[in-house]
Amino acid sequence: MPVGVFDSGLGGLTVYRAIQKHMPHLTLSYFGDNANAPYGVRDADDIYHLTCKGVERLWDEGCDLVILACNTATAVACRRMQENWVPANKRVLGVFVPLIEAVTERDWGDTSPPREVEVKQIALFATPATVASRAFQRELAFRAIGVDVEAQPCAGLVDALEDNDLELAEAMVRSHVGALLRRMPNPQSAVLGCTHYPILEHIFQIALGDDVKVFSQANLVAASLEDYLKRHPDMLGTDGPGRLLTTGNPQDVSDAATRFLAKPLHFEAA
Ligand code: DGL
Repeated sequence: MPVGVFDSGLGGLTVYRAIQKHMPHLTLSYFGDNANAPYGVRDADDIYHLTCKGVERLWDEGCDLVILACNTATAVACRRMQENWVPANKRVLGVFVPLIEAVTERDWGDTSPPREVEVKQIALFATPATVASRAFQRELAFRAIGVDVEAQPCAGLVDALEDNDLELAEAMVRSHVGALLRRMPNPQSAVLGCTHYPILEHIFQIALGDDVKVFSQANLVAASLEDYLKRHPDMLGTDGPGRLLTTGNPQDVSDAATRFLAKPLHFEAA
């Protein structure tokens, strides 16, 4: 039984790679909804229904545990899915909580009341749908008090990365960072709240300056998954090959994914 990793497209591969590195023996299957990416400019119902469809496809692969390696799906759909839709024998986990636990210096799964934390000003970079949902601020408020969040919707950045237009993507990062710094000149931390963005983490860091601590999700999600699986061994997959599935053209997506992660990846039609 593999663990499922879901994203609208290629971004979730940053999480997939980190999980593979942390737990090399864990079998993973990946679903990229490339035909419908980007999700970040879609409305909430649309994102919810597409995410449910992709997760169901991973359940068909035997993945009782699915990680939404997509902040947009996590922000807009995860809670609604967990409350109304996910059956008792399956789990769907988002990528926000591990990130916020790291930013607020908590142990994984610590649900104690909100408290003062060291960081006071956070810059959030995410898709327009994630920013509009305010889900990051909501989850943060469960864990920390007195933290200002300034959010920058990075329209166009996911498209540039899916198209492998790195020159355009880098220019967009500089412009989005500049726009945010005009509103919040001295953030202590910056959160890359989209799984596509770690590919450009170094560009974010240069544009933000050395004094800003940049949090990117992949390793945090992998570490928190490792801890989760220790606590829920029934969700632990068995050894064996998982599959990489896409709703897009498998050859095009394999080529793009191979460039994205700089290693050969072979996708099949979902
Ligand atoms: N990588 C995704 C995220 O973390 C989705 C981006 C998109 O499809 O717009 O938000």
